[in-house]
Amino acid sequence: MQAVGKPMKIYSTRRIPPEGMEILSAAGVCEVSLWDSDEPVPRSDLLRGVQGAHGLLCLLSDKVDAEVLDAAGPNLKVISTLSVGFDHLAIDEIKKRGIRVGYTPDVLTDATAELTVALLLATARRLPEGVDEVKNGGWSSWKPLWLCGYGLSGSTVGVIGLGRIGLAIAKRLVPFGVKKLLYSGRSSKSYAAEVNGEFVPLDTLVSESDFIVVSCSLTPETQGLCDKAFFSKMKNTAVFINTSRGAVVNQEDLYEALSGGHIAAAGLDVTTPEPLPTNHPLLTLKNCVVLPHIGSATYSTRGVMSALAARNLLAGLQGADMPSELRL
Ligand code: NDP
Ligand code: DGY
Repeated sequence: MQAVGKPMKIYSTRRIPPEGMEILSAAGVCEVSLWDSDEPVPRSDLLRGVQGAHGLLCLLSDKVDAEVLDAAGPNLKVISTLSVGFDHLAIDEIKKRGIRVGYTPDVLTDATAELTVALLLATARRLPEGVDEVKNGGWSSWKPLWLCGYGLSGSTVGVIGLGRIGLAIAKRLVPFGVKKLLYSGRSSKSYAAEVNGEFVPLDTLVSESDFIVVSCSLTPETQGLCDKAFFSKMKNTAVFINTSRGAVVNQEDLYEALSGGHIAAAGLDVTTPEPLPTNHPLLTLKNCVVLPHIGSATYSTRGVMSALAARNLLAGLQGADMPSELRL
C-alpha cells in the first residue's frame, strides 16, 4: 500500500518528447527518474533504475522480461510503452504479475502509413539510386531504360496484416490506380470493403502481388514468415516492403532473393538488429533501401505518442481507465 502523500516512483528508460514529461510533472503525484539521454539505457542501469518503481515508461528498444520485472519488484503496477508494437514486452510474465500495460495505437497510424508509401515509391522507382547518380556524375543523359522501375498503376498490391496501419497504407495506395488489393492475416476483416480488399491465403498473396507490404505485428507465428520459400514464390518483378518488425523477415534469405534477381527490390524500415551494422550485406545492394525505423517519426506524432504514454502511465498508477490499455 502506498504511504499517504508519498509520491509514486516512475522510471523512464529514455528522455521522451516534452509533451509527456510536462503531463507527468503537472500531475504532481509521481517522482520521475529517467535515463536522461537520447540513447538506450544500458541493461545494468535499467535493472538498477527500475528498482522499487510503481510505473515503468519504456521504448521498443527495451526488452522488458522477467529479469526487469524481478528487479522492479512488487511495487510495479503499470508499464507504458512509447510504441504500438509490444513484442519487446514479456506479456505472459507481465500478465502473471497483474501489471497493466499502456501503448500508443492509432496516433501513429497516419505517419507510419505515409512513411510506408514513401518507402514503397522510393524503392520501386529507385529514388536513392537516382539521387546518388546525380551526385556522382553517373547522369550522362536521358536514356530510355536507365533507372526504370515499377509503377503502382494497374498493379496488384498484397498487404500482410490489414490492421490499423495496413488499412491506412491500403487507403493511400489504392488512389494510385491499384487494380487489385489482396490481404492476408488470421481472419478476414469487414472493413476491408473500404479498400475493396480481397482476403486470400498467404501463398496466393505472395505469388500474385506486384507489391507486398508487411504491416503485421511480430508474433511467434509471424517471426521469420518471409523466408526463402516465401521469396521464391514472389514474381521476379515484385517489390517487397516491410515496416512492421525486422524479425518477420529472414534477412539472409532476403539477401539471396535480391542478389540473385529472384525479386526486384526491397524497402525496409525495420531490421534485425537495429541499428543494422554498416557492413551488413543488404547495404551493399542497390535494390535494397533501408531506413532507420522512422515510420512514426513526425514531430507531431512523437509528441502525441509521448503525451499518450504519460497519460496511460498516470491512469495505471491511479487505478483509472487508461486512454489506451493493451488487453492482456
Ligand atoms: P494492429 O494490431 O492493428 O494490426 C496488426 C495486424 O497484424 C492485424 O491485422 C493482424 O491480422 C496481423 N497479424 C497478426 N498475426 C498475423 C499472422 N500470423 N499473419 C498475418 N497477419 C497477422 O496493429 P497496427 O496496425 O497498429 O501496427 C502493426 C505493427 O506495425 C506493430 O505491431 C508494429 O510492429 C509495427 N509498427 C512499425 C512502425 C515503424 O516505425 N516502422 C510504427 C508503428 C507500428 P489478424 O487480425 O488477422 O490476425
Ligand atoms: C511502434 O510504435 O511500434 C513503432 O515501431 C515505433 O513508433
